[in-house]
Amino acid sequence: MLRTHTCGELRPDHLGHTVTLCGWVDRVRDHKGVIFIDLRDRWGRTQVVVGAGSSADVAAAARAVRPEWVITVTGTVGMRPEGTANPKLATGGVEVAIDSLGVLNEAETPVFHPNTTELPGEEVRLEHRWLDLRRPSMQENMFLRSRIVKIMRDHFDELGFIDVETPMLGRSTPEGARDYLVPSRLDHGAFFALPQSPQLYKQLLMIAGFDRYVQVAKCFRDEDLRADRQPEFTQLDVEMSFVEAGDVMGVIEGLVQRTAREILGLEVSLPLPRLTWDECMERFGHDAPDLRFGLEITDLTPLAGESEFRVFRAAVESGGRVRGIRVPGAAARFSRKDLDDLTKMAVDAGAKGLVWLKVESDGSWSGPVAKNLGGIADRLREALSAAPGDLALIVADSFEVTCKALHTLRKRLGAELELYDPKAMHFSWVVDFPMFAHDAETGHWAAMHHPFTAPRPADVDLLESDPAGCRAVAYDLVINGSEAGGGTIRIHDSKTQERVFKLLGISSEVSRERFGFLLDALRSGAPPHGGIALGIDRWVMLFGGLDSIRDVIAFPKTQKASDLMTGAPSPVDTKQLVELGVRVVVPPKEK
Ligand code: AMO
Ligand code: AMP
Repeated sequence: MLRTHTCGELRPDHLGHTVTLCGWVDRVRDHKGVIFIDLRDRWGRTQVVVGAGSSADVAAAARAVRPEWVITVTGTVGMRPEGTANPKLATGGVEVAIDSLGVLNEAETPVFHPNTTELPGEEVRLEHRWLDLRRPSMQENMFLRSRIVKIMRDHFDELGFIDVETPMLGRSTPEGARDYLVPSRLDHGAFFALPQSPQLYKQLLMIAGFDRYVQVAKCFRDEDLRADRQPEFTQLDVEMSFVEAGDVMGVIEGLVQRTAREILGLEVSLPLPRLTWDECMERFGHDAPDLRFGLEITDLTPLAGESEFRVFRAAVESGGRVRGIRVPGAAARFSRKDLDDLTKMAVDAGAKGLVWLKVESDGSWSGPVAKNLGGIADRLREALSAAPGDLALIVADSFEVTCKALHTLRKRLGAELELYDPKAMHFSWVVDFPMFAHDAETGHWAAMHHPFTAPRPADVDLLESDPAGCRAVAYDLVINGSEAGGGTIRIHDSKTQERVFKLLGISSEVSRERFGFLLDALRSGAPPHGGIALGIDRWVMLFGGLDSIRDVIAFPKTQKASDLMTGAPSPVDTKQLVELGVRVVVPPKEK
């Protein structure tokens, strides 16, 4: 090694030792001829001093160094003079008085300093990611990620899981997103798909008899990005044989408990709460509700049906719902403009409007449509358990729209009114998802999870007669309102699998052509099996209390799925395209 110690290692125990350190110049200060250099590496920071005792050469060398230069110093460990110790730094009690300084590499003035308190915009950070990753907080995020993945690996290793790698170049596995495609050079016109998940491979591993599989798996999905989504992300992918849903959930609960204990020093009691999908949608309007706070939804449909108010009647008569949230004590807090903002949020979420009402001190309602309530006014207050000073927000629409709008409002209000401790962690399961969701665009049923999910045994007979009523053996892990993992028990007989394909509008020719290998495998002695995949990026983000998934990925992509540092994706040489048999056609409007 070029050094004897790291920049995070020296303590008063090292007093008098001669040491050599290497690192980056974090800061240089010249105090009346005494030069202080803060030397930084991934382990920490150490104060280096060039004082009266140092030679003129060393002093000159120290004066010449600039931030982010890479240097090596040799000197003697001493105690910092009284009153100058830095208790915030692990090495803060000591300093190294140096008698040599070598420059390992100079650095141009960095675009931003890793120790800056004024971060540049995210684009600049992403373009110069190597600098951004030098920042202590980003380094912490990467270490946190590494620790969490280690805990995951240990947990599954101790439970007898085998780590198997599955291909990146494969056939499309449907998880509901677009595929990233890779053209074949040897078979023009044919494409590999990068995996959206290792779903089918892990099922085949169960059929092959591996029983308990785990993999830290890269997944690729070409979908619209959000704060908690990346086109390329990592799953902790798990599959088990001879299990029921509760067995898979139990293994994950053990991991939740262990991760919370080791990372946060938090004791999570098990089993985790379980909510059905129906209950989630009724109470919170979303299948991954944030349960750190209340603001539950109340169904007002029967009452609204009795009212003369046009907005309510129209929704009820067209088979929709009227649902609302009571926001305790919020009447005075929200100005007309705030309420217009909330209305806009509801409209952006698909609602036609938002009814807001405030309870006055005499128990009467006020608000633009208060007078339209007529005979239901008192019962509405009772239904919402509303008291003077409360605010009520009501949406009348299809069930789906009321869910979407009220969920959006609930989320915003929870954060804005600080209804929870941002450091609190809440873990829960959502179970009994519908098997299918109706796709208005195609008119077909679509798989809510993926097409390999088993229906509840009691619901198998509903597959054809009542697809909407058919529930899946599916479970999602929700942390603080984020879907942190999802899994299902799989279909393990080919007949049921074929029925589900048919329902999804996949003809037997197409299913044979795309999934023939799976159907054959299912007919070759497939054990009952099921599994789950955890979103590692999201776990790190949530356990780290961070807001952006990009802060836990070393080299993430932007919202437009590009890498600002390398410039990917980028055009390629014509020669390469010819080899691949690919011709690029740019639609006229992009030219
Ligand atoms: P699913 O599609 O629910 O299930 O994915 C599992 C978990 O992966 C995370 N995740 C993502 N994280 C970051 N960016 C994305 N674009 C992204 N998409 C998903 C989420 C999610 O809960 N094969 C099934 C699992 C199974 O059935 O075993 C699957 O992939 O945290
Ligand atoms: P309008 O008569 O359409 O202007 O609506 C009267 C009030 O009801 C306005 O405050 C709208 O925001 C609200 N509103 C209209 N449609 C709905 C709806 N479907 N659900 C909730 N509020 C609505």
